[in-house]
Amino acid sequence: MSVVRILAIETSCDETAAAVIADGRKILSNVVASQAEMHAKYGGVFPEMASRQHILTIHTVVREALQQAEVTLDDLDALAVTQGPGLPGSLVVGINMAKGLQIGTELPLIGINHLEGHVYSVWPGYPDREPEFPLLALVVSGGHTELILMRSHLNYERLGGTLDDAAGEAFDKVARLLDLGYPGGPKIQKAAEGGRIDRFEFPRAWLEGTWNFSFSGLKTAVLREVRALQAEGKDLPVDDMAASFQEAVVDVLVTKTLAAAEVHGARSVLVAGGVSANKALRERIVEKSPLPVLIPPFFLCTDNAAMIGAAAYQHFLRGDSFPLDFDARPNWPLAGE
Ligand code: KG4
Ligand code: ZN
Repeated sequence: MSVVRILAIETSCDETAAAVIADGRKILSNVVASQAEMHAKYGGVFPEMASRQHILTIHTVVREALQQAEVTLDDLDALAVTQGPGLPGSLVVGINMAKGLQIGTELPLIGINHLEGHVYSVWPGYPDREPEFPLLALVVSGGHTELILMRSHLNYERLGGTLDDAAGEAFDKVARLLDLGYPGGPKIQKAAEGGRIDRFEFPRAWLEGTWNFSFSGLKTAVLREVRALQAEGKDLPVDDMAASFQEAVVDVLVTKTLAAAEVHGARSVLVAGGVSANKALRERIVEKSPLPVLIPPFFLCTDNAAMIGAAAYQHFLRGDSFPLDFDARPNWPLAGE
């Protein structure tokens, strides 16, 4: 078969992104316009501003993705767009752009689950490695913490997930408590580099007998410690708090993921989503895992459109057809529906 080129668009949260990807693995272009700086002054994503910023940026981002890939719309075989989960007002901007392009080109348009995109970020991330199934995937982002068993391509069994805060959300909230700013993950990681992981005994919610997670108790424990120290008029040992908090998150994520991989007879482990950019998490899981671990390179961990194109390629290969009148699905689960 000749090369399959897909133009993918991603606008589920605060990144406006477009990419052209060949055969699901070769990134011809990957343009990401981040709004993080704009949202930083609010301490988190401001949904109304996010969608309006997507409207301002999307056209340029798509044009740039085509130009950098040195292709025109005529060279494409399919279009892909994130259909959900995400912010409703943000999702519809990408979907509308994709539908407009579809009218102009008559190409197939493939609606992709954002979490599926994160899972598939590993394929363009390692173009020369083929992850082995069954595969245990940990998707850790700002909105999700999911343990998923994949027996083959596009086949997802959800083993468990967070009952409250997502791992990335916990990083963001604790960063706010420690006055580190937004987005919290990279700031906590940086602070933690100079801190002691054993200074504070923060709780781990093991939720044994399930593959679920819970991070709200950990966040509350950090809050309690911050308040206690402030009441005593002491300076916050921010680095130690960040390191001890990060250690609690990494410990639970790594231990449960590797246990699930063993119980389910997985042959490889995959970690993806914004939090997979975390250095401590990456190092620990590689160190502890008896199985090969695939984690995307940093530029594919946080939201991007290359991963959406990579997932779309698998649907394209399978010959899936997608209706063109689809709507955004802000709460779309990866498995089950
Ligand atoms: O996947 P993503 O870009 O967007 C969503 O789909 O949510 O993930 C964003 C999340 C944020 O919560 C951010 O704080 C977290 O990923 N994150 C990190 C790191 N880089 C980004 N968390 C921990 N350590 C990092 N280095
Ligand atoms: Zn994401």
